Amino acid sequence: MSDIIRFGVSIEQDLLENYDRLIAERGYATRSEALRDLIREALIQQKIEMNSKTPALGSLTLVYDHHASNLLQEMAQIQHNFHELILSVMHLHVNHNDCLEVIALRGIVAEIVALANGLLSLKGIKNGKLFLTLPSSVINKPH
Ligand code: NI
Repeated sequence: MSDIIRFGVSIEQDLLENYDRLIAERGYATRSEALRDLIREALIQQKIEMNSKTPALGSLTLVYDHHASNLLQEMAQIQHNFHELILSVMHLHVNHNDCLEVIALRGIVAEIVALANGLLSLKGIKNGKLFLTLPSSVINKPH
């Protein structure tokens, strides 16, 4: 871990009040910890957007109706096409119709996004979202 640096920030009063409300709602103990998380998130998003070949980690969450025709076969086909990316799959039978699936992923950004888009666009997927992040060794690497 590198040295901690203190620095001053000039900010409008109403913006700071809104920031304090936001971080209190999110449970942060200090402004500094909340700011560090905001900076990390911005750096992650920038590196992901600027380099689709960046090695990344992800989780894809899908909610779907397992009665939808051909859906399970299509989901399996796509996952087999990208099998090198898939670390683990958790499947929950939520109720009579719905399934929740969480797929843990590791690979380059472009391939993870291609897999996620392939699954999310299938007919029968009711809702879903891809979370992408980077290993800390990549986040902290200078440009
Ligand atoms: Ni199920």
